[in-house]
Amino acid sequence: MKRDIRDLLNPALQRIEVYKVEGGQEAEIKLNQNESPFDLPLWLKETILDEFRREPWNRYPDILPFRAMDAYADFLGIPRDCVIMSNGSNEMLYTIFMACLGPGKKILIPEPSFSLYEKIALLLQAEVVRVPMHPGLDFDAAAIIETARSRQVDFIVLSTPNNPTGKSLAYDDVCRIVSESDAIVLVDEAYIEFSREKSMLGLIGVLPNLVVLRTMSKALALAGMRIGFAIADPHLLGELAKPKIPFSSSRLAEITLQHVLKNYYLVTDAVAYILGERDRLYSELDGIPGLEVFASDTNFLIIRVDDAAAVFRALSGSGILVRNVSGYSLMKNCLRFNVGLRDENDRILDKLRKL
Ligand SMILES: Cc1ncc(COP(=O)(O)O)c(C=O)c1O
Repeated sequence: MKRDIRDLLNPALQRIEVYKVEGGQEAEIKLNQNESPFDLPLWLKETILDEFRREPWNRYPDILPFRAMDAYADFLGIPRDCVIMSNGSNEMLYTIFMACLGPGKKILIPEPSFSLYEKIALLLQAEVVRVPMHPGLDFDAAAIIETARSRQVDFIVLSTPNNPTGKSLAYDDVCRIVSESDAIVLVDEAYIEFSREKSMLGLIGVLPNLVVLRTMSKALALAGMRIGFAIADPHLLGELAKPKIPFSSSRLAEITLQHVLKNYYLVTDAVAYILGERDRLYSELDGIPGLEVFASDTNFLIIRVDDAAAVFRALSGSGILVRNVSGYSLMKNCLRFNVGLRDENDRILDKLRKL
């Protein structure tokens, strides 16, 4: 009698699911993955491709993409040994979680937050300690500090601004959490360019248990290139980097990032546009009866409607793809959509008004 295949596998697999994007990734108006609506201009793509063409494709890239890492460190004004690049920040999340978690370790996750945190923690058989947000979706900083202390957690992950709620912790609260806890604190700043709050980067080297995570997939409009970074004190970073997949960043990603950093005005302009549209969307949505809109510190908005599944279907039927985030705790009947181009935003507003 052969053993059941499931008995051969990591038992944690029974508690996690394959990552899915409901509604897929194709739409006339695609607002479901918090991407930038602005692709790189063609002239910049050509420059990048010219350089990529001259690279040896038969040779491995560097173990780590040092050229892009140096460029990003210089851009941030941070010592070069404080940064490490990965294939999207998702890869860095796996790397850091592997370095920090395992059976017997405790991770604190505010709830609701980015679903990958819990998934990786469960996979590594760590104990997940959840701290609920306030009912209005704001962080409960006092509860985070108190729970970290009373449950003696080893690791805290804070997505701030937070996906999927769009809310941030105040800068002073993040400082208090990191300095009052002896846990390693990972601050995921995926949406920081859209935030009213200050980044934690200035405290790298000051708070030895602080790790900042950055992605180039949102404000930098490079979701297709897969680029993320961790920034931390070099002693800690050296340890966190041990499980990292070698050679995981392609030569193309490395070249692209250097060129985007050299032309950063493209990012600044796009962020200014998105923030203007975010504020316009917020005030327009606020005036639609039967719909609640939450203030956002990101490039996306959360609305609550009577029947999120029905609104999701109606929007899809008109070619508008949003994310139904109703399954997250405290987010019943909520939908999430990122800010798009002006006419795309007009289309969703129009449709929501009619609905
Ligand atoms: C909070 C947060 N962290 C990390 C990521 C992953 O980004 P990437 O792997 O594209 O860098 C996302 C993507 O949506 C996110 O929302």
